[in-house]
Amino acid sequence: MSYRVVQWGTGNVGFHSLRHIIQHPDLELVGVHAHNPKKQGQDAAILCDLELETGVTATGDVESLIALKPDVVSYTIKGETRPHETVPELAQILSAGIDVVSTAMIFLVHPAHADASVREPLEEACRAGGSTLYVNGIDPGFSGDVLPTTALQLADQVEEVRVQELVDYSTYEDPEFTGVMFGFGRPESYSPPLGFPGVLRAGWGGMVTLLARELGIELDEVEERFDRFFTEKAYDTPMMHVEKGTCAAVRFQLLGYAKGRPVIVTEHVNRLGHETAPDWPSPPVGRPGVHRCVVRGNPSVEIECFVTGGDGDHNSGGVQATAMRVLNAIPAVCDHAPGIIDSFDLPYTPSRNFA
Ligand SMILES: NC(=O)c1ccc[n+]([C@@H]2O[C@H](COP(=O)([O-])OP(=O)(O)OC[C@H]3O[C@@H](n4cnc5c(N)ncnc54)[C@H](OP(=O)(O)O)[C@@H]3O)[C@@H](O)[C@H]2O)c1
Repeated sequence: MSYRVVQWGTGNVGFHSLRHIIQHPDLELVGVHAHNPKKQGQDAAILCDLELETGVTATGDVESLIALKPDVVSYTIKGETRPHETVPELAQILSAGIDVVSTAMIFLVHPAHADASVREPLEEACRAGGSTLYVNGIDPGFSGDVLPTTALQLADQVEEVRVQELVDYSTYEDPEFTGVMFGFGRPESYSPPLGFPGVLRAGWGGMVTLLARELGIELDEVEERFDRFFTEKAYDTPMMHVEKGTCAAVRFQLLGYAKGRPVIVTEHVNRLGHETAPDWPSPPVGRPGVHRCVVRGNPSVEIECFVTGGDGDHNSGGVQATAMRVLNAIPAVCDHAPGIIDSFDLPYTPSRNFA
């Protein structure tokens, strides 16, 4: 069966979503939303560097996209920084009876964890439209659901489950957002929003509470930790020039405590350059990044996941994988009962598209 899809957003993730939708035998691109006026009116293929013509042109006209009555919208607008705009927009799509798979609004990876101001209008829209919303990606997402539940199938006497993203971000083409949010390339006097109380818990805490729910663990609290590493030398990366004395690596953790000790932990170490912050956890030698799950128990189990994009880069691999996590879920999401769902509501959704 073929699914009629509108791609909403043509940024880092949307660029790859568009490429995959256009080329996928089971997906039919019927519309594209672009916010940028320079992209509006352009053929979808141009917006994702494909040398063909789709006949589908980008528009910023929400009503006309909804009027196409697609089976599903693939929503990859930068949502977290503009919830007052993205929540009503998503609600409008859902209440029109259109299912949504989204990488945006990472708060909703575990719907019950999200703030009521985000969750409730979208639940209402799903009810009104009889539609389904699924939010996911690689991290938060895949690394915190499939990796640990797979590893735990081999484990016993578990003391701690730790999910890590250890990735050199220097080739991540996102200087505006990552520079500001993470504080890369900024001096110690700058306070990055990621370190503000509650921001990490909102963004990545859902990964911890979702896994706890799935494992039947009652958490007492989720603690946030945020550290930065400041470089002693200036250097260049594809993402940005890093001045001496500015932030060149970020480490953050969310520790889910039960009975007084951390049992479910998610941890990021994101560097600009693999030699920075040498004392922090790193990917294996020769690898620029890893998503790793470490189950400490008897026996202990460790699973490492490496993604590489079609261009050979690990960051575009992460972005492509994020797009594919939700695109591969389209048939299962369209089959699902209405509501905001999470990964554990779905069966495994592997790609069946063999080249
Ligand atoms: N869970 C994961 O593993 C994971 C990984 C990566 C990203 N994400 C999430 O995926 C989402 C997309 O990330 P990204 O890196 O692709 O973001 P991005 O490159 O910054 O893309 C931004 C998108 O938002 C649109 N946009 C920007 N300002 C807008 C405005 N004022 N009104 C309407 N639209 C606007 C842009 O429009 P145009 O289309 O016109 O350019 C573009 O499509 C984010 O919410 C991010 O958190 C999740």
